[in-house]
Amino acid sequence: MKDFKFHSPTKLFFGKDQIKVLANQLKTLNARRVLLVYGKSSLKKMGLYDRIISIFKEKDIFFKELSGVKPNPSIESVREGAKICKENNIELVLAAGAGSVLDCSKAIAAAAKYEGDPWDFNIGKKRITSALPIATILTLSATGSESNAGAVITNEETKQKLPLHSEHCKPVFSILDPQNTFSVSPYQTAAGTVDIMSHVFEQYFSANDDAYISDRLCEVVLKTCVNYVKDAIKKGDDYESRANLMWASTIGLNNLLSCGKITDWATHLIEHELSAYYDLTHGAGLSIITLSWMRYVLDKDNYQKFCDLGKTLFDMDEQASYDKAKRFIDRLEKFFLEIGMPVKLSEVNITDEYFDDMCENIKMVFGTVGNFRKLYPDDVRRILVNSL
Ligand code: NZQ
Ligand code: ZN
Repeated sequence: MKDFKFHSPTKLFFGKDQIKVLANQLKTLNARRVLLVYGKSSLKKMGLYDRIISIFKEKDIFFKELSGVKPNPSIESVREGAKICKENNIELVLAAGAGSVLDCSKAIAAAAKYEGDPWDFNIGKKRITSALPIATILTLSATGSESNAGAVITNEETKQKLPLHSEHCKPVFSILDPQNTFSVSPYQTAAGTVDIMSHVFEQYFSANDDAYISDRLCEVVLKTCVNYVKDAIKKGDDYESRANLMWASTIGLNNLLSCGKITDWATHLIEHELSAYYDLTHGAGLSIITLSWMRYVLDKDNYQKFCDLGKTLFDMDEQASYDKAKRFIDRLEKFFLEIGMPVKLSEVNITDEYFDDMCENIKMVFGTVGNFRKLYPDDVRRILVNSL
């Protein structure tokens, strides 16, 4: 098992009506001036916006708002948010929404403490050395952003979608009320669940196989997704399934599952290329690329882990073999289709038009991607072509 440091400083308030802790947490942090960041319309529709504003007013908290943060959040929103923070001496950024809102808020919090252009953090020109405190109220189970250090930002001008990571960007607290996800559409529920599953795959399919405990934890989180997503899709307000998916989202990507492991992340980096060029839901892109990646990297020496998943997720009891591993991938494809996810790029109207540019981006920024099997830009191209 690889050496590791596990540090998860985010206080998590999980369960029904946990918004009740908001005022007290802000007081504890001495945050009297807040920037509230949210998306387009869901926060207001579900009544959560009014609830937050009434808490601000009741407790006499000065606040500014940044609304309209789009899925695959843009660097423009980050610049705008940072400007508001600087002009108003904001002391804490409160993100209320899904992953894009949370990611945008993290980048804003770091940019608020930086005089240069925030894109510098994404292209690695500058390291984040401080940030305003960030708190989150999560409304969609997917990214794990509610308790991790990452944020993914899109630069529409340069057609790049790049992550940043900093301990300074870990939320100080997150409110995780599964009821706030009742209104998530079946499509976004499925996409969010595929995102959770993909995070786990990225950690499960690793370059070392001696972290037994992490692998078993991965399997439990994946099984949770498979067990509960259909109920959540069928009945949006099914608390048990929403609660299990929400906790799966959080532990799916807060470093716990990667303890002791050399993780992969090729699928994510390829998907980020697609969603940099197209208005594509992250989880939908992952559904397509995961299958193509699995089929590409599977070989006669590494089929065991695919077979283990076949047994855990779909009760495929046969003896492990290369053919069984292939059948597991087919079964996973069937599952993605059953929950309404696309499995081919043609279903989301993506052609090979930008494949060369995408591979060039990968070559320039990362050189290679993945560790389970190291992939060169040519491999990435084949994975994309096989997904058409
Ligand atoms: O804008 P609003 O009106 O809020 O609508 C959103 C948006 O249209 C809607 N939504 C959110 N909560 C809702 C709701 N609709 C009804 N009821 C609710 N309760 O959902 C739509 C999608 O939102 P988005 O934020 O894009 O979804 P998600 O949470 O999947 O986030 C995806 C983004 O996170 C990044 C992705 O690349 C993508 O940009 N990621 C961030 C990671 C991280 N920080 O660690 C890791 C991930 O792998 C991922 O890359
Ligand atoms: Zn993801």
